[in-house]
Amino acid sequence: MSGIAADQARRAAELREQITYHDRRYYVLDDPEISDAEYDELLAELQQLESRHPELIVPDSPTQRVGGALASGFPEVRHQLPMLSLNNGFAEEDLRAFDRRVRERLEVQGEIDYMAEPKLDGLAISLLYRNGQLLRAATRGDGETGEEVTGNVRTVRSVPLSLSGSDWPQEFEVRGEVFMRRPDFLRLNERLLESGERGFMNPRNAAAGSLRQLDPAVTARRPLSFFAYGLGWTAEHVLPHTQSAVLDWFAGMGIPVCPERARVQGADGAFAYHQAMAERRARLPYDIDGVVFKVNSREAQQRMGFVARAPRWALAQKFPAEERTTLLLSVDFQVGRTGALTPVARLDPVLVGGVMVSNATLHNMAEIERKGIRIGDRVIVRRAGDVIPEVVGRAGGERMPETQTIELPSVCPECGSHVEQEEGKAVARCTGGLVCPAQRREALRHFVSRKALDIEGFGDRLIEQLVTSGAVNNPSELFRLNAERLEGFERIGPKSARNLEDALDRARETTLARFIHALGIREVGEVTARSLAEHFGGLEPLMHASEATLEAIRDVGPVVAKHIAHFFDEPHNREVIEALLAAGVHWPRPEANAAEKRPLAGRTYVLTGALSAMTREEAGARLQALGAKVAGSVSKQTSAVIAGENPGSKLSRAEALGVPILDEGGLRALLASE
Ligand code: IVH
Repeated sequence: MSGIAADQARRAAELREQITYHDRRYYVLDDPEISDAEYDELLAELQQLESRHPELIVPDSPTQRVGGALASGFPEVRHQLPMLSLNNGFAEEDLRAFDRRVRERLEVQGEIDYMAEPKLDGLAISLLYRNGQLLRAATRGDGETGEEVTGNVRTVRSVPLSLSGSDWPQEFEVRGEVFMRRPDFLRLNERLLESGERGFMNPRNAAAGSLRQLDPAVTARRPLSFFAYGLGWTAEHVLPHTQSAVLDWFAGMGIPVCPERARVQGADGAFAYHQAMAERRARLPYDIDGVVFKVNSREAQQRMGFVARAPRWALAQKFPAEERTTLLLSVDFQVGRTGALTPVARLDPVLVGGVMVSNATLHNMAEIERKGIRIGDRVIVRRAGDVIPEVVGRAGGERMPETQTIELPSVCPECGSHVEQEEGKAVARCTGGLVCPAQRREALRHFVSRKALDIEGFGDRLIEQLVTSGAVNNPSELFRLNAERLEGFERIGPKSARNLEDALDRARETTLARFIHALGIREVGEVTARSLAEHFGGLEPLMHASEATLEAIRDVGPVVAKHIAHFFDEPHNREVIEALLAAGVHWPRPEANAAEKRPLAGRTYVLTGALSAMTREEAGARLQALGAKVAGSVSKQTSAVIAGENPGSKLSRAEALGVPILDEGGLRALLASE
């Protein structure tokens, strides 16, 4: 084999291994390390290699699986009318406010007639019928342009290929949701796993993955369902006057619509429906994540129109986080970047809010005690949106006889250092500091992460190896690595080694805000790091800032100020920073006129009277952070006087000079300037 061919064979093997590894993280461990886009890149690279060198294809290559994530190659379809999204409501008040807005716009005193429908958790689809025949099906895409998936949708049994009756426009578009029923999802996953294929995370992913198959024969074996929820573009025809009548009309043509739909009157009726559906939700055979309320009259809908990308006449009222019960099998303690030990529940896998959950946080020991949770208990697991699932408490009912208490380890599970629980604090910490491989590993993971120095290619496994081998003990030592040294590590071929070296090179040029964030100072996230960078303009003044100076900055309270000051007091941290700078990490100097670019640059404010939300000093510091000057006396040059309770003579002087006067609300608006 020539050198190049050998290289390529090695790269293909590497990619296969990486993809298989990430498949497991995603589908089995429910804990992906890389983004979907990064995964797609790996898969695309492998596909490209294999298509150029078919001899590299092996039967168990991830590209040979049915259900690969790559699904380009569908023709584009431009929607005649854009496919919009919905405004969301969460609390009862959001629903009532929506109803108020509707009544105001429509100038209606009494109750509004609403159509209420479950918000199905699948994917939106547009079906175009001509002369009663299904002509074309398209995904929503970005709302303007979708993908044509007619061949696949034709295999969805509940989508009629020809309509019953004859009362339909010559051409019209039905919009609705393709989804997978929960029992179908579970059976499909079983089948996939049995035949060695990847399972899906949740019914929605299963529906999306199945619909976006390039081979309709595969889609045909996937149990997809469909409910219509609206009318899209239509040719000339007499149409029903209400949303409820549209859905009944669809039903009459043989187009499936959700049987849970109902007409409700006013905010009270809507709220009652929402509660009833929330209660029924777990018993429905498909996942829903809320209820959609639509003004029933189509003429009223037209009068109300749209704002941004959503209709004014509809609201998606979401459900609160979903909860399920399952068995707590064991508890592990994970060590974070700052040494904090987090108890993680290992659970009997359970589907919560459409996602299979097998790990959930127990937060800390105090929470465990407060909730009285023991290993072997049945526990309630909650998941809201994309947040980490958590154990909320013990499920009701008798306790099993053989449960065990959960004990905080006295030594760190990673490095054996003493574990310390500060008096009055919930968090227990490993005292190992940089001796602890977990803390070093987490610090590095944070340092390379996207919002920090964004060093591509340094995945968890490589970092683990770098730390355990002692090659990298702190972030500055990353920059000692080069392709040659990197190639020695597991699964790092010459090409990846070169890519990693390039990524390190690119990361040397960064911004001050990213650099500050990357340092991993406790409680200094992306936003605070940005405020600090903007305020100080350079690293030196930040390193020497007192707690008092720090506290005056936006997003920085006393606790964070203390963490920052302590961080820079620590000689070791200063050494690492010096080493990073010596390794060539740099950022553009602030432009001379950076101050002028700040939102309140060139303006002067005078504060008088007592503010309720903050002290005058804090208000002054925050105005300054936005580039404003804060003066002690009012002149014609004053941009505005900010007057709190019991203002002094400054207020009368402002009035005399005709200087604008702002109250505390006005100050809030100023401080929100970006
Ligand atoms: S109506 C202009 N009704 O929710 C109104 N949408 O956030 C457009 N969805 O992409 C949608 N169930 O996929 C409507 N009963 C329902 C729905 C529903 C689910 C989805 C739909 C859309 C998204 C909007």
